[in-house]
Amino acid sequence: MKDKRNSLNVEFCGVKFENPILIASANVSAYSEMVERGFEKGFAGVSFKTIGIDTVNVVNLSPRMAAYKYKNRIIGWQNWEQISDSPLEINLKAFKYLKKNWPNKVVISSIMGFNLNEWSELAIMSEESGVDIIELNMSCPHMMQEGAGMKAGQIVELVKTITQTVKKTVKIPVIVKLTPNTNDITEAALYAKAGGADGLAAINTLIGLIGIDLKSYSPLLNSWGVGAISGYSGPAIKPVGLAQVTNLAKKANLNLQISGIGGIENWVDVLEYMLCGATTVQICTAIMMNGYGIIEKILEGLENHLLEKGFDSINQVIGKALPNITSIDKIDTNHRGYAQFDTDRCTHCKKCYTSCHDAGGQCIIWNESTKTPSLSHKDKCHSCMICADVCSVNPSVPYFVKN
Ligand SMILES: Cc1cc2nc3c(=O)[nH]c(=O)nc-3n(C[C@H](O)[C@H](O)[C@H](O)COP(=O)(O)O)c2cc1C
Ligand code: SF4
Ligand code: SF4
Repeated sequence: MKDKRNSLNVEFCGVKFENPILIASANVSAYSEMVERGFEKGFAGVSFKTIGIDTVNVVNLSPRMAAYKYKNRIIGWQNWEQISDSPLEINLKAFKYLKKNWPNKVVISSIMGFNLNEWSELAIMSEESGVDIIELNMSCPHMMQEGAGMKAGQIVELVKTITQTVKKTVKIPVIVKLTPNTNDITEAALYAKAGGADGLAAINTLIGLIGIDLKSYSPLLNSWGVGAISGYSGPAIKPVGLAQVTNLAKKANLNLQISGIGGIENWVDVLEYMLCGATTVQICTAIMMNGYGIIEKILEGLENHLLEKGFDSINQVIGKALPNITSIDKIDTNHRGYAQFDTDRCTHCKKCYTSCHDAGGQCIIWNESTKTPSLSHKDKCHSCMICADVCSVNPSVPYFVKN
């Protein structure tokens, strides 16, 4: 029997990871004793909560975050947390402690300077404290100072300058954490590469506003009634994260390893990010919802998938979906199909009929005596498959047929 756990080993920027899954830089990685619990459960490493130099007095707003729920299920989370509010000395001690007690786990120092000197100093101090990799946070959407966080990441020349500055000061690998809040994430990535970046991490939070309270007309995340547009994370942003990782992985002349982030909750999400080109992944919001214990099922799910597929190593899945992803102008318009209905399983809710008539090809006929749908004519069908998506039955009664 093959050693299942070894099959999950990966190498990222020349550093060995026992598996591809890290705790992301956030509230879930803010203290060594928390991170240690994540390591115990099975996370391969951590990107520690972003550190800064104590020149700025970091004060977090109160309350700090609010969940976006659909039918009691948290699908996203809005926060406006700043970088670490622990003194720098404590954070550096945490790095030393973690590396001493968990030598096989990877510790990444996520740093943010407010000028080039600070970026260098933070990098040097992190390296001296024994971390394995430095992650440049040019993507936090909450920094109030110009040229910091996302405001740095949106100015591509600055991405290059900061990366270059840090690269000159340390020997360990340097990766850049990119913001999705730009026109084209690959442009910043190319500038990071020009500055000497060894790898990339994407994505940080999207900017969002989860809603307005109808009594007070205040945003749902507010402090004494006043809110702001700020970082949005969790399952709802996974499609954006996957798209951006794909863009980075497919970008010509980029060729940098990627740590995929955004909405990862389970082994399927991890696998999808890796299939789209990520070598490692990072998790924040799912830990907020369910704790570090989620890693156990993730590792088991990945191992089982590899066995099922007959793969020896998780490295064999990296980028495997990329040949199947292109731009829409390159997809053959001659390929046509239409909907058909397996009506024996129909529960007669009529949703397919309504959606087809109000949003599709208006081609579903409703049989009033059997209370079931059928297609009037296949040439009228747009093959939009809205009928299948709204169907109350799983798998759906409407299904796609190729012409
Ligand atoms: C409360 C909170 C605090 C965060 N703090 C940081 C941070 O200090 N540095 C950073 O690079 N990203 C930070 N992030 C962003 C996460 O690392 C991650 O990129 C983002 O939440 C998307 O991943 P997720 O959907 O798994 O949460 C934070 C996110 C949240 C929700
Ligand atoms: S695929 Fe679209 S057009 Fe065709 S039957 Fe379904 S909803 Fe109507
Ligand atoms: S949506 Fe599905 S279950 Fe409902 S009527 Fe149509 S086919 Fe039947």
